[in-house]
Amino acid sequence: MFNLVRTRPHLGRAASVQGARLVIVVRRIGGRKSHPQAKGPGSMFVGAGIGAKAAKGNLAARTCPPKGLREARGTGTETRDGTMREGEKMQDWTGHCAIVTGGASGLGAATAARLQASGLSVAIFDLDAARGEAQAQALGGMFVAVDVSDPASVADGIAAVEARLGTPRVLVNCAGIGPAAKTVSRGAAHDPALFAKVVGINLIGTFNCASQVAARMVAADPVDADGARGVIVNTASVAAYDGQIGQIAYAASKGGVVGMTLPMARDLADKGIRVCTIAPGLFLTPLLQGLPEEVQTSLGAQVPFPSRLGNPDEYAAMVEHITSNPMLNGEVIRLDGAIRMAPR
Ligand SMILES: NC(=O)c1ccc[n+]([C@@H]2O[C@H](COP(=O)([O-])OP(=O)(O)OC[C@H]3O[C@@H](n4cnc5c(N)ncnc54)[C@H](O)[C@@H]3O)[C@@H](O)[C@H]2O)c1
Repeated sequence: MFNLVRTRPHLGRAASVQGARLVIVVRRIGGRKSHPQAKGPGSMFVGAGIGAKAAKGNLAARTCPPKGLREARGTGTETRDGTMREGEKMQDWTGHCAIVTGGASGLGAATAARLQASGLSVAIFDLDAARGEAQAQALGGMFVAVDVSDPASVADGIAAVEARLGTPRVLVNCAGIGPAAKTVSRGAAHDPALFAKVVGINLIGTFNCASQVAARMVAADPVDADGARGVIVNTASVAAYDGQIGQIAYAASKGGVVGMTLPMARDLADKGIRVCTIAPGLFLTPLLQGLPEEVQTSLGAQVPFPSRLGNPDEYAAMVEHITSNPMLNGEVIRLDGAIRMAPR
């Protein structure tokens, strides 16, 4: 068996030796050539310090997911199959169920694909049944036709998921719409029904899914020593901060998602549920893909660095990191290449 005791990568260089039973990865301490814990067939001494404690009997160690799986998840590529020290591990939701709303398209579709590839069982909630079914089939996941703005539809969707995949432990809210309309246009006030619709899907839809899924997570057992029961990732937008002309409803709805993040995290903290929000800048999803190429290029050029539109998988990678980093909670993360939107 090839074991790696991961210590603190920033303190020293990872070392591994073919056939070694145990590898201690620590800060280099000059001159020391042996260590009592590096005895035994095939063991090797690399250094001394924090790693030695972790190596001692592999106390409180756990088995990592297979290497390929960890690489797909983008975490822990410095490790090998074996053990990690308790307290330094990332949260591992492998084998658990995730719900991705708006998973039929764009950022949600990329997220559903990434989570499924990393070993979760993904259920897509979307209004678009044709695309949602196709996406779920391509992934080997599940599709449920859900209108996130309707609490009863959300409840039915969660029940269907629980019956097939078990308690959802990860929820990613991506369902959203963004029609453009000004406060007053050609003398007429903004259509209040349109305003309510945007808020109903983007903000209330996020609330409906988060609150109902959180209730199911609360009813389930914790999965680790921290008492973790689940993770919720919401999607706002940089429009929450830099709403442009014509984005009054959209910006209001996304501002609501930003504002909900900390109190939701606080409400759910003693239940072991973390909540974070991503505020994306400009990502190349069907909305922008429909624009002429020169417009896409011009939009991308507005991003300070990298000067291009974001790739949906870069959003999905951020979701994956949030789900696995136990210390990320109550935070809104701008994912935008430093763009600050101009008024128009
Ligand atoms: N693409 C970007 O550049 C960008 C930037 C900032 C924020 N966002 C936000 O990210 C999220 C995803 O955006 P996208 O670009 O992937 O959009 P998209 O249009 O490609 O996907 C949105 C999905 O949500 C679904 N949906 C809409 N209303 C729904 C409802 N009531 N119930 C269930 N599903 C519903 C749609 O059918 C669609 O599949 C949205 O909330 C959007 O506001 C996107």
